[in-house]
Amino acid sequence: MQIFNYEINEILESCTSILPPAHLAVAVDILAILDKEGYVSSIYNKFPQSRATGTTSTHSILAKISLRDHSIHVARKFQAMVDHRQLLYPLGIIACLAHDIGKIPRICNQLPGEYTMTKHARAGAVAMERLIDGRLTTREALAVILAIRHHHDCNTNASPILDLLRRADCEARDDELIGLFRGEA
Ligand SMILES: [Fe+2]
Repeated sequence: MQIFNYEINEILESCTSILPPAHLAVAVDILAILDKEGYVSSIYNKFPQSRATGTTSTHSILAKISLRDHSIHVARKFQAMVDHRQLLYPLGIIACLAHDIGKIPRICNQLPGEYTMTKHARAGAVAMERLIDGRLTTREALAVILAIRHHHDCNTNASPILDLLRRADCEARDDELIGLFRGEA
């Protein structure tokens, strides 16, 4: 068993007896990436207006949250929304943990071009396609990859996983803002 930091161990423990082995193995690989490279900011700093309802100050506040912490917060929100016996639960956990993985410079830079609002979503989807390859069913892999690919794309019809990911992401951001304003983060 790999040794992760406390927050990662905590979310891993909450999944260990619930996720099927193949899904758990994918989740562990995502957590290993977040543990190693997720110290970067959860907000890309080139586009201060990148949050739909955000302001520059909101942006600068949220920029203090690491990608690793934000990803765990989103997964925690999802856990609070969805009963673990639901079929989509394992896929939702994977999608939440990996939704912003394309913000890791090494992963984002695998796609050409300047950073755009949706580049991290596209880069994350590509990275997850490689990471999942052959480990989940084609249908499951597609559900996760499409949710990550479109999590900022309001014109895309929401699948149940995409809808839950967007809600969990928004609620996590709200909590992060409140926590930072109170000085808890
Ligand atoms: Fe994102």
